[in-house]
Amino acid sequence: MEVRLATKAGFCFGVHRAIDLALKTVRETAPPIYSLGPLIHNPQVVAYLAEQGIEVVEEIERVPRGTLIIRSHGVEPKLLEKTRELGFTVVDATCPFVKRAQRLACDLNDSGHQVIVVGDRKHPEVRGIVGWTNGQAVVVEDRVEASALPFYPRVGVVAQTTQPHANLEAVVEELKSRMGEVLVCDTICNAVVERQNAALTLARQVDVMVVVGGIDSANTRKLTGLCRLSGTPTYHIETGDQLQSEWFRGCTVAGLTAGASTPDWIIEEVKRRMEELSEKEEVVGPEEEVNPE
Ligand code: F3S
Repeated sequence: MEVRLATKAGFCFGVHRAIDLALKTVRETAPPIYSLGPLIHNPQVVAYLAEQGIEVVEEIERVPRGTLIIRSHGVEPKLLEKTRELGFTVVDATCPFVKRAQRLACDLNDSGHQVIVVGDRKHPEVRGIVGWTNGQAVVVEDRVEASALPFYPRVGVVAQTTQPHANLEAVVEELKSRMGEVLVCDTICNAVVERQNAALTLARQVDVMVVVGGIDSANTRKLTGLCRLSGTPTYHIETGDQLQSEWFRGCTVAGLTAGASTPDWIIEEVKRRMEELSEKEEVVGPEEEVNPE
């Protein structure tokens, strides 16, 4: 069986940068070193970082002072201020694309626009962006929520970087039909769209798809859903040992992709294991494996 990797898969620029900054901090800084929340949504990488000495904290008040890494999702400015006031050294690994969304939201708010953030209101990135408007921004998840907003004469729209373009467009269309001036800043990140397009293209060409990434990773779950839409059987796993040989029975080509928080070493491990399992299937044969006696 041939295993094909999607042309774009795994770590995006912002996650790469955050991990590199974290490892540089370990090399150059004395402990304790913390990350405010898990640095990325991948348990294997978080475990690796813990081995290197990076402890995940949710509350900064109660831990001894040290160095605090801000993850790629970013945080609200008040939290940054508080962290520094408490005496932490801050390593800001906020993705530059998220920073751009924060800055635009802040500028729109300062210029008198009602900021509307299109995204998941519980997501830390969205909470951070709202913080950059002093808590004034309104979050809408979709067109239906946008249709329930009161009239605002001047509106400024930004999006969570991982939103689908279609959702932003639907919300904007709704706002334009009901509000006064509507200024739109497209803050969606191409990395996500590129990974989704590459996954869907590959899923249409293969007999089975495997998507690798944290079970809690929203962008990995989204990739899995998209691949399933193509009609190709698709499996979401975190590591190679979760693969099952029967998934590949009778397959000649399998596709492999990974969420934006999956490191290359896990993708390589999964690819190797898929090749091994398919060889085993060919040697053992389906019937012998079903009836081993
Ligand atoms: Fe940044 Fe885009 Fe990744 S916003 S963290 S490069 S998905």
